Amino acid sequence: MDFFEWLNGYEPRFGLHEVDFNDPNRPRTPRRSAVYYAEIIRNNGIPLPKEDEFLYGEFPKNFCWSVATAAYQIEGAWRADGKGLSIWDKYTHTPLKISNDDNGDVACDSYHKIEEDVEMLKRLKVSHYRFSISWSRVLPDGTTRYVNEMGLNYYERLIDALLAANITPQVTLYHWDLPQALQDVGGWENDTIVQRFKEYAELLFQRLGDKVKFWITLNEPYNTAYLGYGFGTAAPGISVRPGRAPYVVGHNLIKAHAEAWHLYNETYRAKQGGLISITINSDWAEPRNPHKQEDFDAARQYLQFLIGWFAHPIFKNGDYNEVMKTRIRERSLAQGLSSSRLPEFTESEKQRIKGTYDYFGLNHYTTVLTYKYEYSTGILSYDADRGVASVTDRSWLNSGSFWLKVTPFGFRKLLRWIKEEYNNPPIYVTENGISERGAIDFNDTWRIHYHRNYINEALKAVLLDGVDLRGYAAWTLMDNFEWAVGFDERFGFYHVNYTDPTLPRLPKASASYYSQIISCNGFPDPAMGPHPCLETELEGNHVLTISYCFLMNSDTRHHTRTGWQRALSGIRFNITQCRNSTVCAFCSFWNWSTGPGTYFI
Ligand code: BGC
Repeated sequence: MDFFEWLNGYEPRFGLHEVDFNDPNRPRTPRRSAVYYAEIIRNNGIPLPKEDEFLYGEFPKNFCWSVATAAYQIEGAWRADGKGLSIWDKYTHTPLKISNDDNGDVACDSYHKIEEDVEMLKRLKVSHYRFSISWSRVLPDGTTRYVNEMGLNYYERLIDALLAANITPQVTLYHWDLPQALQDVGGWENDTIVQRFKEYAELLFQRLGDKVKFWITLNEPYNTAYLGYGFGTAAPGISVRPGRAPYVVGHNLIKAHAEAWHLYNETYRAKQGGLISITINSDWAEPRNPHKQEDFDAARQYLQFLIGWFAHPIFKNGDYNEVMKTRIRERSLAQGLSSSRLPEFTESEKQRIKGTYDYFGLNHYTTVLTYKYEYSTGILSYDADRGVASVTDRSWLNSGSFWLKVTPFGFRKLLRWIKEEYNNPPIYVTENGISERGAIDFNDTWRIHYHRNYINEALKAVLLDGVDLRGYAAWTLMDNFEWAVGFDERFGFYHVNYTDPTLPRLPKASASYYSQIISCNGFPDPAMGPHPCLETELEGNHVLTISYCFLMNSDTRHHTRTGWQRALSGIRFNITQCRNSTVCAFCSFWNWSTGPGTYFI
């Protein structure tokens, strides 16, 4: 337990048990580490917990395998063919907002590369592709006063190309890039946005709805509300009303979603027969100390302020959850205000919001450990209202993003939590993935590891917990503009070489791995013998990344050329240089279907 540490007094704490030195009774509370150590003693070692064992098995038939992108992150063509400006165009052109002052002016130039993008999807063998529509490309000033046919035509061509390849489009109406003209009149803080969004949605249902059968109204309303209008690290970058603006924005987002859902439900569903819902993001939250009630409460508060903010009204009763309502009201009153900073829905609004879903769209990446943190009364902000701080476990693997730790177990827990909390809705995971930074390495073992383990946890949720999971979309098809961190963090299965003006896309090793999971619809049990799906490889050209090549003398070669060719069968590599020559090449490289290797020619 914590104790008197000689010259340093009570400051450094070494204890497996926390001792409260302010309390004359000196109460002792076991820390997470105490429980862990007790487990080691009980087990006389560290056996793999049952729930961490890999599960072999398949996803249900017709499971949707998808990969996701978003308009601003990939399209480029920021001023092409009459596109209007969006808040992200403006934000990225404001100095110091984005790492390296990067922007999405060109990004992956997907606006001009439909064929290349669809080719990648075909090779991955996905059944679905999730992308978003740039509102200002279709409606340059955000309103239906003027429809930019050229912009709309891009999406028509993309959708046609997908359908021709037998890939089902999953279309997000709003992935953060609000037309700047609407921001100029207050953006999501102005409640006229609800009607604007509904009109925009209607145009898309009318023009694309005969071919699009899967709609997502909003991507991650939390990020729009909190990062865009509270914290200010995303467009429009407003941070001056952190205790009010996020709630006002959240309120309008929920209403806008509900209106679009009703419109589809009442006017378009019968003839178009699609699904429409919302995508909500959430971490999983674990109590920092699982044996401390306070940390448990903190985890609950964290989840209710994140996923519950939007899911509770839509998936439960049309209203905000009690945790948020109580905490924000209490703090508002203590701040001398006459009412809560969290706006209220009228009874008829609640009726209109409740149940506006066809499925639960979930974006999930990571887990945090939570504990209570009391902010002083005078602070007006979402964070202070939530009253929770979070840390991560040092043993969790890192990624290229500071906020993203590899914690597959949290995925299963969150899926199960959604099932229990929201009455077992059909769930589509609409994003899940991992980033890297620094020099490109096509052998992205960390991404293979991430998807293998996260998808396996999803499989456990389905087979062991009865979660009604219908689909999984990995984030993301190719490296792209990662918002405030620009091009520094890369989540793609395909690498995009930005230094080459043709922006070539080259598969990383994980692309092949993901396509194998898709072919197998999960993980076939090796005990049942070799399964043919494991032999399928990514179609098309293979990439051989040559790390180094030496010229060498013929008598030092170790393998014959035939042997080398057999090892590399199916891989395109030009060896004419070696023919009829006594001097040959010695190459060490990564061959992404067989692993690393050294070959002597
Ligand atoms: C967003 C994506 C983003 C990803 C990784 C999600 O919050 O929807 O646009 O690239 O996370 O940060």
